[in-house]
Amino acid sequence: MKILLVGATGSLGTALHATLAKRGHEVIAASRSHADAPVDLTDPASIQSLFERIRPVDAVACAAGSTPYKPLIQLTRDDYLSGFLNKALGQIELVRLGLSAIAPRGSFTLVTGILSREPIVTSAAASAANGAVEAFVRAAALETAPIRVNAVSPSVITETLDKYATFFPGYESVSLERVVQAYIRSIEGSESGRIFEIG
Ligand SMILES: NC(=O)c1ccc[n+]([C@@H]2O[C@H](COP(=O)([O-])OP(=O)(O)OC[C@H]3O[C@@H](n4cnc5c(N)ncnc54)[C@H](OP(=O)(O)O)[C@@H]3O)[C@@H](O)[C@H]2O)c1
Repeated sequence: MKILLVGATGSLGTALHATLAKRGHEVIAASRSHADAPVDLTDPASIQSLFERIRPVDAVACAAGSTPYKPLIQLTRDDYLSGFLNKALGQIELVRLGLSAIAPRGSFTLVTGILSREPIVTSAAASAANGAVEAFVRAAALETAPIRVNAVSPSVITETLDKYATFFPGYESVSLERVVQAYIRSIEGSESGRIFEIG
């Protein structure tokens, strides 16, 4: 398959890229910088021009998206907007603009995270953005068939605990391998409207 991978340079994206390539897929690696295909999820024009350049694709996978973490009392409207624009609307736009560039039985696999179902202190903006993506996936899948839309929702990833361990005391971490396998299930399988919760 020809697969657009957004966030290909990150911790999750790098592992996913390696596995997809090993499985014989052609991967177009995208991110804001240091990738074959520059794209900024907060800029619809850059998403549109990327799809125009690479269409058609068989699958779109996203391993990107950042959100601010702050105590509730310190979160501003701009913080919520930034989390929503980057992680939620950015991925929603990937589907909206990608629908005309994807193969008839193609798939979109988005990323959320455990914070939509098990929040931590400082995660209100992140939890809200993740929850928005999951609600979008369930609704969009009702209308996109036979194109499929899913999301992968991992707990904290073991290989990134150096950055995040203090935020997730006592949480079960999950290996990159387990998370990557959920993307493979979404991309190569036949399910739609699923939130693949890992951990
Ligand atoms: N790490 C975890 O434990 C964990 C757990 C659950 C969920 N997640 C979610 O999984 C995703 C990936 O996490 P990660 O740890 O791999 O993050 P990461 O290492 O920071 O990588 C993020 C990737 O996304 C790209 N990116 C960021 N903003 C972008 C934008 N606006 N447009 C296009 N590309 C953008 C980055 O590249 P550029 O900077 O070049 O754009 C990079 O390739 C995130 O959504 C995160 O919330 C992570």
